[in-house]
Amino acid sequence: MTEDPERDGARMSFKGRMAYGDYLGLGDLLTSQHPLSDAHDEMLFIIQHQTSELWMKLAIHELGAARAAIIAGDLQPAFKMLARVSRIMDQLTGAWDVLRTMTPSEYTQFRHILGESSGFQSHQYRMIEFVAGNRNLAMIRPHEHRPADAKALWDEALRPSLYDSVLGQLRAAGFDVPARDRLDQPHQPDPAARAAWLAVYRDPVRHWSLYDLAEKLVDFEDYFRRWRFNHVTTVERIIGFKRGSGGTSGVDYLRRMLDVVLFPDLWEVRTEL
Ligand code: HEM
Repeated sequence: MTEDPERDGARMSFKGRMAYGDYLGLGDLLTSQHPLSDAHDEMLFIIQHQTSELWMKLAIHELGAARAAIIAGDLQPAFKMLARVSRIMDQLTGAWDVLRTMTPSEYTQFRHILGESSGFQSHQYRMIEFVAGNRNLAMIRPHEHRPADAKALWDEALRPSLYDSVLGQLRAAGFDVPARDRLDQPHQPDPAARAAWLAVYRDPVRHWSLYDLAEKLVDFEDYFRRWRFNHVTTVERIIGFKRGSGGTSGVDYLRRMLDVVLFPDLWEVRTEL
């Protein structure tokens, strides 16, 4: 007999009630894909970017809350949120497998219609970098035509970063680590912080929370690097060494970005252990 879920108690009528699509705003979400060409693969391209932006939105939500928890000295919830961010980055990395199914022949059918738009102009991507502590103020310029996005990045650049909040925990534990004078710059290797991390990594049992916190950041950066690496490889596979639609040298630019380090102290300390 065919299943009738109503007999099992499922609600089948939603007149005047909130249903799944109402709660999730699916009316807007599923009508926000507007291909500008007839190319079959443009839908893939749009949805891949949109879903990435949704996951980035969640990552920003989690990173901001993790930072607030760390500042409050409430580390357990921060561990949970940072672990989630790493899973999100992993999810984003896995998503390249879908995009990789698009060949250069397919992409060239609609690449011209993108004009100069590029993921380079993703303000949420910059926000993730800025929250983590990789603050390159030049990256705000492409957002000046949208004052709210530019302002959000400026505001973020002047707040203590996630890593600054972690340095605050080192200080709270008695380590002599100075606060940064310029919050709006990327984190540079700092000998005092590295000495503190060395003590933490040499005696994890004594400094377990700090040790755990450091490893959560390294996890996050590790997954972030995998995303970058998969991006540049996918880009090379699809456009070779053509210039990017955003105007950069393309693969050469993206390869340089592979060398950007979010938390230099935490990587450098490993050499000394
Ligand atoms: C056919 C697929 C793709 C190609 C060919 C491509 C190509 C490029 C290129 C060449 C750049 C360098 C900037 C430029 O000159 O345009 C770039 C940057 C970027 N792309 Fe993609 N991309 C693709 C898909 C994606 C997807 C799905 C995302 C997810 C949101 C994404 C996010 C980014 C971000 C965030 C940057 C800035 C990276 C940085 O400045 O470090 N891209 N992309």
